[in-house]
Amino acid sequence: MAVNRLPLIAGNWKMNLDHLQAIAFTQKLAWTLRDANHDYSTTEVALFPPFTDLRSIQNLIEGDKFSLAYGGQDLSMHDTGAFTGEISGGFLRALGSKYVIIGHSERRQFHAETDEVVRSKVEAALRHNLIPIICVGETEADLAQHGPSAVPVSQLSAALSGIAASEIVIAYEPVWAIGTGKAATEEQAQQVCSALRIALTEVWGVDSGESTRILYGGSVKSGNISSFMRQPDVDGALVGGASLDVAEFSSICRFLKHVV
Ligand code: 13P
Repeated sequence: MAVNRLPLIAGNWKMNLDHLQAIAFTQKLAWTLRDANHDYSTTEVALFPPFTDLRSIQNLIEGDKFSLAYGGQDLSMHDTGAFTGEISGGFLRALGSKYVIIGHSERRQFHAETDEVVRSKVEAALRHNLIPIICVGETEADLAQHGPSAVPVSQLSAALSGIAASEIVIAYEPVWAIGTGKAATEEQAQQVCSALRIALTEVWGVDSGESTRILYGGSVKSGNISSFMRQPDVDGALVGGASLDVAEFSSICRFLKHVV
């Protein structure tokens, strides 16, 4: 992490927790962080619940003035119209979303999202003043065939093609590290995050390269977050499984207390 970029810890709940469970969870998380005197000005915390939870989360966070950000796990590339089952960026924004995750490897793998689809969704997010969290990452086969950074860098370049410099977040999530308990080493994470920052700088210039936050994701836990956050090009984490446990997730959010 670098001093000029605000660390972001993002919890991707995937398809877990209905709206009632989401309310209980979010309340408990906010209270746990408050009891621990968590300083949101030093580490931002964002939640990514299923779409059906967003209204409840909004009511709770606005009502109780919690300093948690939130957003969708995906969005439609379209703004409105006959697209059954799709959710527009405008709808997410109307519910107070700040961010939206785009191009998660589970979307690429199970919903056939191509680089071109991801690019269109990035455009859609920006049209609606949402900050896209653009996910990139290689499979084990990609790693063996192309080395560590080639696939993530090419996915990022494709996602930004033809798009003007904007506020985005990049999440480097090696597919082989997601949900496996086999996290990348901090050196691996740093190597790819650095390559992504160089690629971003080439496309959008030095200011974007320096200000854009790049997260690591894949089997992040309270026990390994510190090692990732010590890396100069890692500015936070996109957390799956461990974001569903209040004690574990709040400990990840409070990584500054255990990074020296
Ligand atoms: P895990 O933290 O469960 O490995 O999931 C990572 C992820 O996919 C977050 O988007």
